[in-house]
Amino acid sequence: MALTSCSALLLFGATGDLSRRMLLPSLFALHEDDLIRPDLRIVGTARSDLDDAGFRAFALTALDEFLPEDRKDPARMAGFLDRLHYQPLDASNITGFAALAEKLGDTSCGLAIFLSTAPALFEATIEGLRHAGLAHDNVRIGLEKPLGHDLESSARINDAVAAGFSEQQIFRIDHYLGKETVQNLMALRFGNVLFEPLWNAAHIDHVQITVSETVGLEGRKGFYDDTGALRDMVQNHMLQLLAMTAMEPPGNYDATSIRDEKVKVLRALRPVRGDEMVRGQYRAGAVLGQAVAGYPDDLGGESETETFVAIKAHVDNWRWQGVPFYLRHGKRLAERRSEIVVQFKDVPHNIFAGRGGRPRANRLVIRLQPEEYVRLQVMAKEPGLDRGGIVLREVNLDLSLTTAFAKARRRIAYERLLLDLIEGEQTLFVRRDEVEAQWRWIDALRAVWAAGDDDIKPYAAGGWGPNAAIALTERDGRSWND
Ligand code: BG6
Repeated sequence: MALTSCSALLLFGATGDLSRRMLLPSLFALHEDDLIRPDLRIVGTARSDLDDAGFRAFALTALDEFLPEDRKDPARMAGFLDRLHYQPLDASNITGFAALAEKLGDTSCGLAIFLSTAPALFEATIEGLRHAGLAHDNVRIGLEKPLGHDLESSARINDAVAAGFSEQQIFRIDHYLGKETVQNLMALRFGNVLFEPLWNAAHIDHVQITVSETVGLEGRKGFYDDTGALRDMVQNHMLQLLAMTAMEPPGNYDATSIRDEKVKVLRALRPVRGDEMVRGQYRAGAVLGQAVAGYPDDLGGESETETFVAIKAHVDNWRWQGVPFYLRHGKRLAERRSEIVVQFKDVPHNIFAGRGGRPRANRLVIRLQPEEYVRLQVMAKEPGLDRGGIVLREVNLDLSLTTAFAKARRRIAYERLLLDLIEGEQTLFVRRDEVEAQWRWIDALRAVWAAGDDDIKPYAAGGWGPNAAIALTERDGRSWND
C-alpha cells in the first residue's frame, strides 16, 4: 500500500556520496514525473551541521552536477528543493533522535526510511529510531550495503533491525536488482517459450558472469581495503545475478514467489575448492589508454586485499548438475562490462562434417551494461555455391534494448528502488534468508582461501586479470567471452 499524504521519506547519510550521485537525482526524477505525492516530505539527516537551506543548497549542487542539461528545469528543481528538510544527527548518541522525530512530525500514516550509514552506526541507529518512536508498524526501512562483513556480523545487524521491524517492513537493497536488464532476465526467461526448455544441464555447457570495472580505488581506501572484491561485489550483486539466471520459474511475479526460488539456488551452491578460485590485485598499467598506478600506490601501502576474483561455482540441483558457473569480477580491467553468457552445448551430430562445415555451439550473451542487449549467436552458411565446401559462420541475432525501446527514458536503479520502498513493493529487495545463504557460501570460500597457501596474483591494470583466471576456464577447454 502506498504511503498516504502525511508520509515522509527519511534519508540517513543524506550528505554522503551515494546521496549526491544517486539518491537525490533519483528522487528528483520521481518528482519530475509526478510519481511521488506532492506532499511527500524528504527529510535528510547526517552528521554535518546543516539546516534546511544548507541541505537544499547541497542538493542543488548535486542535481547540477549529475542531471543532464535538458532536465534542469528551474521550476521543477525549485519544487523539488521545497520538499527537502534537514536535521543534523550524531547517530551514535541516542538523545539526538528526539529532535529528528520532532522534525518529522506526525509519522503515524507512514514513513519510509533509507539507511545508508557506516556499518558501525547501524545498531545504534536502529536503537535510536526505536527510542524515538520511529519504528512503529507504519514504517518501512531500506538498508543499503554493506550489511556486515560475514554471516555472523550480518546476522547481528539483521537481529538488531528485526528488534524494531518485521521482515515485511525491511527492504535490503542490492542495486543490481534495480537495473532494467537484470529484470529483463526474467522477461527473457519467463516471457518467452523459446529459452526455458533448453535452460538446463542437458543443453547448457556452462554460464559465465562477468562484472568488470575500469575504475580503481576511487577514494574509498579504508572501506575497500577492509572489504575486497569478493565481499564488495560477489557476495551480493553477482550472486543475485547467478540466482536470477539459475532459479526455477516462480509461480507468480511477486516478492515471495521470486525470493523463494532465488534462495533455493543460493542454498544449493556447492562449497568452492581451493583450485576453483583465483584472487588478484592490480599493478600499474594502462586502462583505456591512460596510465594508472597499481593498488599498493593507490592505497599508500602493501595489502593482501583482492581487487579481482574468479570462481568456478556449481549449483547442486537436478537442473544444473555438471554445469559450471564461472564468475569474474575485478577493478582496473580492460573495460566496464556486466554480462551473463550462457554457452550452449554442441549439436549432437554434425551433418556438415563431410562438406567441411564446423558448427560452433550457440551462445547467448545478456549484456547488462554499459550497453543493454541480448545477443544470440547462431550458425549460418556463408553465401556462395559452396564448391570448396560448406562454410558455417557465427552470426548474431541481436536484440538491442536501447534501440528497441529508444523512446523510453532509461531509469537508474535507485529511481525504481526508492519508488518501490515508498510504495512498499518488496520484490526487488533481498530477504534475510537470501543474504544469509550468500554469506554462508562466501564465508566457506574465504575459509578455504585462508587455509590454502595460494598467493594473491598481481595483474597489470587494463587487462583481464591474472593468467590463473584464464587458466580456470582454459583447463576445462572453455574460454571467457573477452
Ligand atoms: C558497488 C560497489 O556496490 O557497486 C562498487 O561497492 C562498485 O565497488 C559498484 O563499483 C558497481 O556498480 P555499477 O552499478 O556501476 O555496476
